This record gives sequence, structure tokens and C-alpha cells, in this order.
Amino acid sequence: MLDLNPDIQPMSDEEFRLLRDQVYGHSGIFFDDGARYLLEKRLSRRLIQLSMTTFRDYYYYLRYDQQRDHEFVELMDILTTNETYFFREDFQLKAFTDEILPEIIAGKEAQGDRTLRIWSAGCSSGEEPYTLSMLLLEQKCLAGWRVEIIGSDISQRVLQLARKGVYGRASFRTTDDHYLRTYFEEVEGGYRVNNAVRERVSLSQLNLFDPPRLMLLGKMDIVFCRNVIIYFDQTAKKQVIDNFHRMLHNGGFLLLGHSESLMNISTAFSLRHFKNDMVYQKAPVNSEVRL
Ligand SMILES: C[S@@+](CC[C@H](N)C(=O)[O-])C[C@H]1O[C@@H](n2cnc3c(N)ncnc32)[C@H](O)[C@@H]1O
Repeated sequence: MLDLNPDIQPMSDEEFRLLRDQVYGHSGIFFDDGARYLLEKRLSRRLIQLSMTTFRDYYYYLRYDQQRDHEFVELMDILTTNETYFFREDFQLKAFTDEILPEIIAGKEAQGDRTLRIWSAGCSSGEEPYTLSMLLLEQKCLAGWRVEIIGSDISQRVLQLARKGVYGRASFRTTDDHYLRTYFEEVEGGYRVNNAVRERVSLSQLNLFDPPRLMLLGKMDIVFCRNVIIYFDQTAKKQVIDNFHRMLHNGGFLLLGHSESLMNISTAFSLRHFKNDMVYQKAPVNSEVRL
């Protein structure tokens, strides 16, 4: 059944539990019993690279070796699912540009505040934060504003791709020609996102389960965390959502992926029904947090 390397001893029940708990404790990513084969298969490749033949050896390496911090970086590159593309979930992006942004801009203008901070948490290879940057460049009413888009991910590998900013056809599966023509230049191997788009985007490696480092990012107006919490269990989802709540300004918005919701996770946000989509909002004034 398994097309695993014959030199590696199959993963025992105990090894599965030990390794799964390490991954979960570090990243919130939860491999349930049904995903055991996936974990075994992905880790096998790493065992081969390290010339190990048992998962127990790898467990001890991860747990006690001096290289363990570095190994967790490698592990995240191997275990995360990084599927993404430009202009993903366009109906939600329409709610963002046509309904959420005007509301935030009006509120901030009234307070004489002309800064906008948006976080793409779990940004993978960069298509999401660059999409947001393009959409904001089209907003002429933001001229003179200080706009910051922060893209973060736990995987170094995808962040390197984001920094390179060169994309192949698969990333453009729902991209209107206008954006391709205006914001990209053709280079060998694909299309490179231009400097105007990159200028407002800063990229950093960040684990959503590292609250002290998260808090250093400062307060946000909008958090996009799409197609990320699906890989976490309920407890981990609650922790991450709780942190987003703390990091949003009052009245700030949380945009999740279309298959994700806060049902049974948090009651701290209210669900706003816009014309184009439903999104979560932190109460506009201080209110009791009930998680
Ligand atoms: C499927 S991609 C989603 C990309 C983009 N948000 C989108 O919707 O197209 C999920 C990303 O979440 C990242 N991720 C998973 N666990 C994470 C964690 N604990 N901290 C930060 N990023 C994490 C993965 O590395 C991966 O790149």
C-alpha cells in the first residue's frame, strides 16, 4: 500500500503519536489518524536526507539535538501545504475593496489618521499580499496614505519564493489581464511582480504560535488569514483567533478562507453581512472578550 523507502522502518503507532505531537506543539498543524500516511510519507524524505532509518531516531533528533531549531525550520518546509494564487476568492476581495476599505478609510479620515496596516498571515509564496498591494494601488483615494502590508509565513522556503517574486502560469489562474499588464514584467521562467507592488509589502518568517513575536508586529486594521487554520485543531484555532483579536484595532476586520468559520471557536467577533461576502469584525469600541 505504501510507496515508502524500503530502507526506512515503517512508522509505529508510538512514533506517529510522538512526531505528531512535536509538529502540533510547534506549529498547531494537526495530523489526525487519517493523515498518518501523509506524515509518514513527507517525513520519509527527510529521513533519507539525514541518512536515518527509523522515525524514532528522527524523533530524538528533533527533540534533543543541538540542531533542533534548524530542524524545525526544515520540518515546516516539508509539512506545510502552500497552495495559493493571485486574486483567490474574488468575491471576498470585492467586499474588501468596495465595502470594507471605504468604511475603514472614512473612519480613519474622521480621526485624522492616514495609515493602513494589513496583515496576510500565512501568505505562502506571496500571491496574497501582492494581490492586496495591487488592489490598494488601484485605490486613488489612498494617495498620501501610509499603507503597509505585512506578509508572514512559518515556511522559509515559500518566503524565499515570495521575495523573488517571479510566478508561473498556475499563480495567474484567476488574474485579469489588466493586472498582469500593469504590475508584472515578463522574465525568464515567468512574470515578476514590479517594484510599486513590492514596495508596500514586507515579508517575515513568523509562527502563528509565537505570541511574543506576533505582538511585535503591532496593531492591524485588517487580518487576512485564509486557508491556514484549516490545518489546526480546535484548541490551536482558538489560540490563533484570540491573538488576532488582540492585534486588531477596535472595528478591525478578520477575513478567513471560504471554508473556514469561527463557529465553536470564538464569539469575540461579530459577523458582518456585506453585499459581496460575510466577514468577521472586532467590536468598534472596547467590549468584553469572550472566547
Ligand atoms: C494553503 S496556504 C494559504 C496561502 C494564502 N493565505 C491563500 O489563501 O492563498 C497556508 C499557509 O499557512 C502557513 N502556515 C501553516 N501553519 C502556520 C503557522 N503555525 N504559522 C504561520 N504560518 C503557517 C503554511 O506554511 C502555508 O504557506
